[in-house]
Amino acid sequence: MISYEVYKILHIMTLLTLLFSVGLSLNNVEISSKRSFRIIYGVVSFLVFVGGMGLIARIGIKHGEAFPAWIMVKIVAWIVLNLLIVLILKTKNQKTKYFCAVTIAVVVFIAVMSAITKML
Ligand code: HEM
Repeated sequence: MISYEVYKILHIMTLLTLLFSVGLSLNNVEISSKRSFRIIYGVVSFLVFVGGMGLIARIGIKHGEAFPAWIMVKIVAWIVLNLLIVLILKTKNQKTKYFCAVTIAVVVFIAVMSAITKML
């Protein structure tokens, strides 16, 4: 059985990789237009989700049970993050890329706050 710690390492390491790749694709048109780079993006992003789902199971939320609001916030944050990444990869406008990057920082902040404080 995969432990809580392993899921957490997967969740955080894939998140860091994803954010590092966002940084790379901001100014590197050549790399961000590569099909392999986009596929890796998709796989890493999916692994963030897999890690998150594994953590949900390990913190004792049963199958079929409603998710607490702080988890819903994170799932929405993850969807928005993916949409912004797609926009960064598609747009040629540098200003739009920077706008997306700043919005990603805000979205990640909300997701991190949500996981750590569990206020909702
Ligand atoms: C924008 C995307 C996300 C970010 C930035 C993020 C960030 C984090 C961070 C920093 C932690 C560690 C918190 C701690 O150690 O106290 C964490 C834990 C966790 N995340 Fe995420 N996460 C994201 C997406 C998701 C998604 C999509 C899910 C669910 C599918 C999820 C579910 C969880 C769970 C269940 C924990 C464990 C909380 C605990 O140990 O009490 N996360 N997340």
